[in-house]
Amino acid sequence: MVETFSLHHIKDVHKLLVEMIQQDLGALNETARKDYIQSWDQDKLTHWVHQKQQVSLVYHEQGQVLGALLGTPHESGVATVIWLVVDKSARGRSIGKQLMLRAAEEYRELGAHKIKLTVPDKNSKRFYEHIGLEEEAYLRKHWYQVDFWQMGWQL
Ligand SMILES: CC(C)(COP(=O)(O)OP(=O)(O)OC[C@H]1O[C@@H](n2cnc3c(N)ncnc32)[C@H](O)[C@@H]1OP(=O)(O)O)[C@@H](O)C(=O)NCCC(=O)NCCS
Repeated sequence: MVETFSLHHIKDVHKLLVEMIQQDLGALNETARKDYIQSWDQDKLTHWVHQKQQVSLVYHEQGQVLGALLGTPHESGVATVIWLVVDKSARGRSIGKQLMLRAAEEYRELGAHKIKLTVPDKNSKRFYEHIGLEEEAYLRKHWYQVDFWQMGWQL
């Protein structure tokens, strides 16, 4: 089930993020992956949980965290999903979609009209398109000089 990301989930979410950065973000070079891992430590996640108006969620089954979504507070109606990750063993079971749909619902309740996010690879881009997001921009040589797509979702 989907629930709000809380302090007791931090260790599990951190593990999911690190594994995903190491194993799935092949579009980024080693330096970028190291930087992301260093920057997204458990202290940052603790700070994140305490931020007001953000939307951050986990999906768990019998106490095991299998997915997570971290979103920023919206600014003038536009929210950013920073991370969406589903454990490798649990992909293809609608967990990513459920996290995105719940985030959309919560952002709507907070008064946002749009979710945006960026992706560096075509495979995850196709996932977002499949659930309804649209390509809004192609960002050349963006973070770490990697090309990203910006995707948007009108809520
Ligand atoms: C991308 C990711 C979040 C998708 O989560 P998931 O739980 O495996 O996906 P779901 O099972 O919820 O898929 C929902 C729908 O999208 C489709 N889908 C999933 N991945 C897809 C892909 N790569 N291309 C096209 N469609 C896809 C599914 O078939 C499903 O379709 P349906 O609703 O018609 O049955 C997950 O694979 C992941 O964590 N990947 C690594 C991290 C990553 O790339 N994150 C995004 C960038 S930060």
